Amino acid sequence: MDAHKTKQQLIEELGSLRRRVAELEAAEVRHDELEHELRRLSWDLAERVKEMNCLYAISKLRDRHGISVDEVLQGIVELIPSAWQYPESTCARLRVGAREFKTAPFQETTWRLASDIVVNGSQSGTLEVFYTAERPPMGEGPFLREERNLIEAIAERVRRILGYEQAEKQAREREQQMIQLDRLAALGTMVSGVAHEINNPNNFIMLNTPVLLEAYDSILPVLEEYHRDNGEFLVGGIPYSEMKESIPVLFSGILEGAKRIRTIVESLKGFARAEACDLSQLVDVNEVVRSALVLVNNQIKKSTSRFSVELAEGLPAVRGNSQRLEQVVINLIQNACEALTDRRQGLAIATAHDPAGRDVVVTIHDEGVGIPPDRLPRIMDPFYTTKRPSGGTGLGLSVSASIVKDHGGSLGFVSAPGDGTTVTLRLPVADGGGVRAQAVR
Ligand SMILES: Nc1ncnc2c1ncn2[C@@H]1O[C@H](COP(=O)(O)OP(=O)(O)OP(=O)(O)O)[C@@H](O)[C@H]1O
Ligand SMILES: [Mg+2]
Repeated sequence: MDAHKTKQQLIEELGSLRRRVAELEAAEVRHDELEHELRRLSWDLAERVKEMNCLYAISKLRDRHGISVDEVLQGIVELIPSAWQYPESTCARLRVGAREFKTAPFQETTWRLASDIVVNGSQSGTLEVFYTAERPPMGEGPFLREERNLIEAIAERVRRILGYEQAEKQAREREQQMIQLDRLAALGTMVSGVAHEINNPNNFIMLNTPVLLEAYDSILPVLEEYHRDNGEFLVGGIPYSEMKESIPVLFSGILEGAKRIRTIVESLKGFARAEACDLSQLVDVNEVVRSALVLVNNQIKKSTSRFSVELAEGLPAVRGNSQRLEQVVINLIQNACEALTDRRQGLAIATAHDPAGRDVVVTIHDEGVGIPPDRLPRIMDPFYTTKRPSGGTGLGLSVSASIVKDHGGSLGFVSAPGDGTTVTLRLPVADGGGVRAQAVR
């Protein structure tokens, strides 16, 4: 030590040494803090990398060729644990409608992070992540705030995949409908041809049978005389006395059959829309219902003792063809009557102007047998009938549906088996349809 330093100098040096020590101590603390911060940042970075890897792997999964939507969704679920803070105790589940995708192993616990998956506005699933063991509290339970963001990001990707799947399904359905329509159009052309071919020979039967019946009636006295003089003889292998009773029955059977063929052919022509018809009339739907009722009145009386009609006042006109619309209403009323199994079951018909003002609505409600849900989609198919034994052709509704379609309207069915059926026929109000309909029948 310098012997010449004064006491004062020594005190100053000591002071500066103390300050230096304090500075060094402060630097040490800052260093620790920085190191801590660095460790936190690199941990954070590692977490973000895991998340990015997860999202990237999901994108790659979607791009993989020939992989089904279900496989993609299962793959996504399996990618989730690796992106969470504690992969070894993370499991995940995705539920979409009735489908479920889970990690293996899977365990439902109270440590749960979830996101709803909404496709086209309606909730259609949930994505859930669970911790299988307790972990320290973080931003949201034991989960990081970033993990909330990540689950939302994954849910969004799932939503897009499901939206795409739905759109594809709709496109496929539409394609099927187009094929079906094409088939129906081809069937229509064929049917109208066949209907024509059947009509001619059937006309022979209808015209000639009454002539034969008349001829038989006039031969009968001669045969009777022969029978009286010579006793029993055979006609077509059957004793004359039996045969003479049967022949008129056989003839009327032929005539009945031919009439039925004519009815079917008429319906087929309607189905094939072979005849163009005038759709430009202004039609009063109440008038259509009234004239339909005149024609089916007998059937209604036979089928029910509880019948009501309510025709709305001031109904606007619809544009179309009153005869065709009458055919539709008749078909619907006939179906309703045929559905009733007891005269105490009711039948109610009503017309209305819908509140939105765009349609005239006819409802036909019956308390009959109803239609099971699995049959409902088929009832308008041509030839679909549950009444074949009693002579149903299954053309009533398909003809009606095509007429309604030509009028720009719709036919809706609501049915509860055992309770009855409500048919709603909607027809658009004619342009300037505020004008009351003129009776144009
Ligand atoms: N109101 C109703 N209640 C119960 N079932 C109905 C009703 N309307 C239609 N159906 C069902 O739909 C089927 C098809 O009806 P559609 O009118 O096309 O043919 P159909 O009545 O069987 O025969 P057609 O009308 O040619 O005499 C019916 O056989 C019946 O099973
Ligand atoms: Mg019918």
